[in-house]
Amino acid sequence: MSSFYVTTPIYYVNDLPHIGHVYTTVVADTVARYRRMHGDEVYFSTGTDEHGVNILRIADKKGITPQAQADSVVSRYHDLWKQVGISHDDFIRTTEPRHHRAVAEIVRRIEAQGDLYVAKHEGWYCASCETFYTEKEIGPEKTCPVHESATEWQSEENIFFRLSKYQDRLLAWYAQPGTVQPESRRNEVTSFVESGLRDISVSRAGLPWGVSFPGHHDQTVYVWLEALTNYLSVLGFGGDDRDAALYERFWASEGGRRVHLVGKDILRFHAVYWPAFLMSAGLPLPTTVYAHGWWLRDAKKVSKSVGNIVQLDELFAHFGVDPVRYFLLREMAFGQDASFSDEAFVDRFNSDLANDLGNTVSRLVKLSDKAFGGKTPPESCSNNAVKDTAEEAIPEYLAAMEGYAFHDALRSLWKILAEVNQYLVAREPWKALKAGEVDDRVSRVLWNGLEGVRLVATGLLPFMPKLAARVLRAVGADPEQADASTLSWGRLPLSAELPAKETLFPRIDKAAFLAGKLEVPPAAGDATTEEESNMISIEEFFKTELRVATVIEAERIPKSKKLLKLGVEMGEEKRTVVAGIAEAYEPDDLVGKQVVIVANLQPAKLMGVESQGMVLAASLDGRPVLLHPSADVPSGTPVK
Ligand code: MSP
Repeated sequence: MSSFYVTTPIYYVNDLPHIGHVYTTVVADTVARYRRMHGDEVYFSTGTDEHGVNILRIADKKGITPQAQADSVVSRYHDLWKQVGISHDDFIRTTEPRHHRAVAEIVRRIEAQGDLYVAKHEGWYCASCETFYTEKEIGPEKTCPVHESATEWQSEENIFFRLSKYQDRLLAWYAQPGTVQPESRRNEVTSFVESGLRDISVSRAGLPWGVSFPGHHDQTVYVWLEALTNYLSVLGFGGDDRDAALYERFWASEGGRRVHLVGKDILRFHAVYWPAFLMSAGLPLPTTVYAHGWWLRDAKKVSKSVGNIVQLDELFAHFGVDPVRYFLLREMAFGQDASFSDEAFVDRFNSDLANDLGNTVSRLVKLSDKAFGGKTPPESCSNNAVKDTAEEAIPEYLAAMEGYAFHDALRSLWKILAEVNQYLVAREPWKALKAGEVDDRVSRVLWNGLEGVRLVATGLLPFMPKLAARVLRAVGADPEQADASTLSWGRLPLSAELPAKETLFPRIDKAAFLAGKLEVPPAAGDATTEEESNMISIEEFFKTELRVATVIEAERIPKSKKLLKLGVEMGEEKRTVVAGIAEAYEPDDLVGKQVVIVANLQPAKLMGVESQGMVLAASLDGRPVLLHPSADVPSGTPVK
């Protein structure tokens, strides 16, 4: 069994995740799932990059500690990865002690090699990139080539790394096939290194939020040296032997693969600095650094600072998570830039998923259900056009997956769907069915169609894990048994029970969606089951009508220890609300106070009193703490 280690960049915590972060992570997840299907021993890591001046600045601006800033963004990442179905094995945070240990160890090794020295450092610095740029790169305006924002002149005493010493070894590394991909990026870094490498500063003075530089406590380790080391710290590098077992298996093992997936914006750090640090530390190099392109909107890189964000939550709510995963991998030719538009999204959803896949599945399942009493056909076939096409398309799919050409892999699967449709139209099994002539021929035709769909769904498992599993179940196959070995013709069981029919990809009304008038369906395409997620959509949340109300009278309810009867005013309207707060509040203290109530709750009788709403309170170890607006507002004001 070969080991396969795949990583995403670790994301900054100065802002919330967006489509770019989701993209790299979904790609890595698809790769990880694909390799697991092939029986590889896979380790998939992602995480967050929590040190540096940007995080400090944003935390200062908000008046919170950088750790609190990191904690809140990290919890968003955790929730999002759960929602998107990311199957990572670990999540590394650079504020964890295991990361500090690994950084100290790599610095110790680089130092022992004689590759560090102290010198004065001056240059133009972009805080967003955490990097220095040359005069040529920033042009006369002195703006960062990535962020188009002003760079800052910095001058300080730093520790330098002898990057220049590694120029030849780096060039020799690029010359090995597959190390830096795609080819265009390999050429780009090769010319960058050929044009001459200067030593780089690997420490910062006076930056308190970072890993302290071993032996130089007035300095912190340069964030990129620190952040890149996450790929080792998550494997236990620098810890005791027990911690480092993963490191031995996934980084140091002979024949293992170590793949970094990154956006092209951070290629230089991964393809020049990182291998040089590793060479100096005497550690193995990654086997592949793959740099993908950017999602653009209005011809600009999608980013929070540009403000051209894609509303992923809205897409998840209307279409489900898996169709978004599909779109991201189908629409972008991996390695190149792609533009995001709502229109392209709906078009792909309707044509590829609702039409090509969804309709084919439902048509075949309906026919088989009718012809064979709720079962798959009793007769298979090993000589037909669908099989021929599948046997061409599956090797193409596999080759494309190995070469990170995800869009091509999906295109190959769709060739099978196109063939299934043509094949059905030519054979017209529905005619025989209508005439009551269900014979071996009908059985073979339908079985071939279903078998074609089973192969497509098996190939789709890494891309749309939930929906592909549902397609497999719908055609009578068992997703638990699906792996690379079932990507061959002839595996669909005969006369297997078909489950109850369901619409997997309801077509979306494009005009209504683009006009923002589409109702959110009660169960979107790949809706997660309740036990998998307790997330609700914004539309569901807005069904709850919250309002500010002013308490005008309050009294205890006789014979009840817990309940108070409140008379509240919401604008013109007066209501009675029963609240379980008697153990924490005196009635008189409440009169005149503003509270938040749920205004559209069905009335209920409590201890004989009808309650026409509910008062919101935080629950602190079971003790209610009422919520009030932070400033007086007119009673009846909606809360959103
Ligand atoms: N913290 C560094 C990475 C350190 S890795 C040792 C960082 N973080 S980041 O939060 O800015 O994330 C950058 C990564 O997010 C890119 O490399 C890319 O993978 C992804 N994307 C961010 N915006 C993107 C697009 N608009 N399009 C596609 N992916 C991009 O850099």
